[in-house]
Amino acid sequence: RGAESHTTDLAGRHVVVSAGGTREPLDPVRFLGNRSTGRQGYALARAAVARGARVTLVSANSELPDPAGADVLRAGTAAQLREAVLKAAADADAVVMAAAVADFRPAHYAEGKIKKRDGQEPEPITLVRNPDILAEISAERARPGQIVVGFAAETDDVLANGRAKLARKGCDLLVVNEVGEHKTFGAETNEAVVLGADGTETPVPYGPKGALADTVWDLVADRLG
Ligand code: CTP
Ligand code: CA
Repeated sequence: RGAESHTTDLAGRHVVVSAGGTREPLDPVRFLGNRSTGRQGYALARAAVARGARVTLVSANSELPDPAGADVLRAGTAAQLREAVLKAAADADAVVMAAAVADFRPAHYAEGKIKKRDGQEPEPITLVRNPDILAEISAERARPGQIVVGFAAETDDVLANGRAKLARKGCDLLVVNEVGEHKTFGAETNEAVVLGADGTETPVPYGPKGALADTVWDLVADRLG
């Protein structure tokens, strides 16, 4: 099934997709962020609309144009993303966490801009953990039979790390990609393997992010029955 197909296997379904990268503010002008552009999540949202789903896209700091036909909600920080995703997931058939969520946030937010002073070393930045949204959604399915999908970018022992992460998160599917040139962040293309909690392994050849999106929805549709 390609991006051009007119299958409506997600008709009557509500799916939630998170996309982009969260930003954790340090002061009014600075944040800790990541390189995610939102491309993969937006491709997932577009593909789900094309397959007939009602789509809620929770977008974190992406500059991409809103996908036609999707309800787009904005989130800045991991905490805001968590709130929006949990709320939208309440009546969702599937939740796909494609967003790059900050694992940590600064323990303190400076109300005024942090200034440098002559002869003074900078203050270290203390970080605290953010909640794990994917693990939380997986543990407390808002609906019986809700399908939960995560994404993971790994640099080494890709499959072993992916399997361990899938088990740790408790999700149904984990899309694992190897980080490298022309792959993942900001790229138009992607290459991945989709691991299933049922032991399945679906390789997705190097290709457009829309093709990976369609493979993810194929696997989700199978599991929704
Ligand atoms: N994720 C999440 N909440 C977090 C961190 C990650 O929901 N606080 C989700 C991401 O959206 C992604 C999946 O978890 O779908 C895997 O993210 P990843 O960063 O690979 O997992 P971590 O458990 O944070 O592991 P690592 O220490 O390798 O970063
Ligand atoms: Ca992480």
